[in-house]
Amino acid sequence: MNDRGIPEPSRQLRLRDADVLIYASTAALVGAAANRIQALIKRAASEKGRCSIALAGGSTPRSVYSRIAERAKGDDAWVGTPWDKVHFFFGDERCVPPDHPDSNYRMAKETLLSRGTFADANIHRIQAELPPAEAAKAYEDELRGFFGGAPAFDLCLLGIGGDGHTASLFLGTAALNAKSYVAATFVEKLNAHRVTLTYQALAVSDEIDFIVSGKEKADILRELLVEGADVPAAKVRAKGSLLWLVDEPAAAKL
Ligand code: 6PG
Repeated sequence: MNDRGIPEPSRQLRLRDADVLIYASTAALVGAAANRIQALIKRAASEKGRCSIALAGGSTPRSVYSRIAERAKGDDAWVGTPWDKVHFFFGDERCVPPDHPDSNYRMAKETLLSRGTFADANIHRIQAELPPAEAAKAYEDELRGFFGGAPAFDLCLLGIGGDGHTASLFLGTAALNAKSYVAATFVEKLNAHRVTLTYQALAVSDEIDFIVSGKEKADILRELLVEGADVPAAKVRAKGSLLWLVDEPAAAKL
């Protein structure tokens, strides 16, 4: 475990100004991400009295949230974690009601948020049942109100799609150039509306962790981290550190 609370990876690379921590298996990656998040919660809560985390959608985060819920209940080392100081936000959302199977909020609720004692006031979901532009405006207002200005998340979790999108920042969309912290976006290839944090919001986040697993991500990770492909995830910057937490199958071509 290093001083950032991150379990030792089986190997580590430095690529494109970022640390890439590679874990032998998906289970090891998920455990490492869960420990890292818990350590960050403890640190932020003791330094600032609260911790703000933007959650990601996708399959790997789902396992991480379940792991956190399990450890919070059954792991002695996790007793005393100041869960009441944690504020959960979302990096993006599909424009569906909160109980829809595609909803990122629903996924986070089922895996983590409903399994702890989190106050409703600490869960800041994107109201994606509203028309997209209204949902984006409401979330932007929510962020500005909570942070008193720029959304300086302590941690923003991100995934990456096989096409290099992250959050709901897709190639060829206007959201990539948005000046606001939140944008509504229509993703033509998915024929879907989404609401997403923009680069402006990510750039003021203290820390950003990409969590990536599976062999189907090996090509995009190589293109992005080794060949410097100009995909949306490549332009993400954090105010503090940007980490890639990856399992061996996804790192196979690095
Ligand atoms: C979403 C996401 C998206 C996701 C990637 C990776 O709502 O779909 O926020 O950016 O993180 O598509 O998803 P997987 O982990 O499922 O491959």
